[in-house]
Parts: sequence; structure tokens; C-alpha cells
Amino acid sequence: MNINVAIDGPAGAGKSTIAKKLAKELSYIYVDTGAMYRAMAYYFMQNNIDSADKEKIDSVCGEIDITITHQNGEQVVLLNGDNVNGVIRQEAVGKMASCISVYPSVRSKLVDLQRQLARKESVIMDGRDIGTVVLPDAQVKIYLTASSRTRAQRRFEELCSKGVECDIDAIEKDIIERDKQDMNRKVSPLKKADDAVLLDSSNLDIEGVLAEMKRIIGEKI
Ligand code: C5P
Repeated sequence: MNINVAIDGPAGAGKSTIAKKLAKELSYIYVDTGAMYRAMAYYFMQNNIDSADKEKIDSVCGEIDITITHQNGEQVVLLNGDNVNGVIRQEAVGKMASCISVYPSVRSKLVDLQRQLARKESVIMDGRDIGTVVLPDAQVKIYLTASSRTRAQRRFEELCSKGVECDIDAIEKDIIERDKQDMNRKVSPLKKADDAVLLDSSNLDIEGVLAEMKRIIGEKI
């Protein structure tokens, strides 16, 4: 039987870092659903489609093919056949993803794909609506969060280590804005599923979160 582990939470909570490590240890497939919304957003940006133009977005959704493959444990997102992993991590693409993820046409296309992946294999899937909408029957559901300041601090340190000049207050402001947008949209807003375990990582390092997650998973399966 396939095992489904659903991890939801706000931007910058560390979901993907932790989910990737867990998937490796448990030999499950890691599915990063945010990357799929980012790939759709990238397509709209490349084609100069405004995030407010619902009609246009609805009409071009059918032209977009998103395919997910895995290479050495890494998820590869193909957008109409092209690997877009290298371009979708930019901040602008994340913001656009948050804007276009409000549309049912975008969501239903990606939710279908996500469910197909979970049917095929045991997965650890992270996103915003995995426990609530995509995999409501997942055996394990975790809502991973941290204070906006902690999340901003982590992002700040990551950018500084890459030599990128940045301002922690501006980063925190962006994080709060994205949370607001994701939590308040009409369709599939970000929220903790009733049966999800809440894990606040504000005072934990990566190893601490990983240990907590393993304990939660071990209790459920
Ligand atoms: O997780 P990540 O920052 O890559 O996600 C980018 C955006 O995609 C989120 O801010 C959110 O608006 C959207 N998203 C979503 N549902 C998911 C995953 C991501 O709406 N399951």
C-alpha cells in the first residue's frame, strides 16, 4: 500500500528542506507542489500574461504541460518539455505563483497531477492544501510553521551566504504578505487540516525538526 505524507505550511517554514531529507531516509518520492505553481507562473510571465487576467489564464491552461520526473532524488519540473528548475526559484516567480494559484483552472490541473503522483508511489508531498484538499486521506498530515521573524531570519541568512544584499525587514514584510494572500484566498486557502499535527519550528534547528517529524510519522504508520 502506498503511504502518503502531507506537509503543509506557510512560505519559508522549511517544508522542502525537511521533506527532501525525510523522503531520502524513508525511500519515498518527494513531491514539491509549490514548484508546479511556480512553473505555471513562469509560463504566464514568459508570455506576458497578467496575473489579473483570469479569462486569458483560464484559456491558456490547456496549452501548458507540466510533467514531473525525478533524478537522483531531486524533483525535475518540465514545462512543455523544458526543465525549468533553474528559473522558478526567483522571488518574482514565487510572488506570481501566489497570485495565479487563486484560480480554479490552475489549481484543478495541478491537483490532478499531484493525485496521480500519489497514486503511483509512496510520497512526501509539501504545499499549502495537501492535507485539506489534495490528499485528504493521507496517513500522516503535518502542518509545519514558524514565526514570520524566524522565517525571515532563515531566508536572510541563506541570501547573505550567497552574497546577496538584502534587508530582513523587507523579507519579513514579503513573507507576511504572501501568508495573507495564501490564507485568505477563496479556493483551497492555506490552513491546518483538522487532523494534522501542528509543528512549530521557531525554536528548532533542521535536525530537531527532522527528529520531530520522524517521531510523528513513526506514530502514524
Ligand atoms: O512553496 P512555494 O513558495 O514554492 O509556493 C509558491 C506559491 O504557490 C505559494 O505561495 C502558494 O500561493 C502556491 N501554492 C499553492 N498550493 C500548493 C503549493 C503552492 O497554492 N499546494
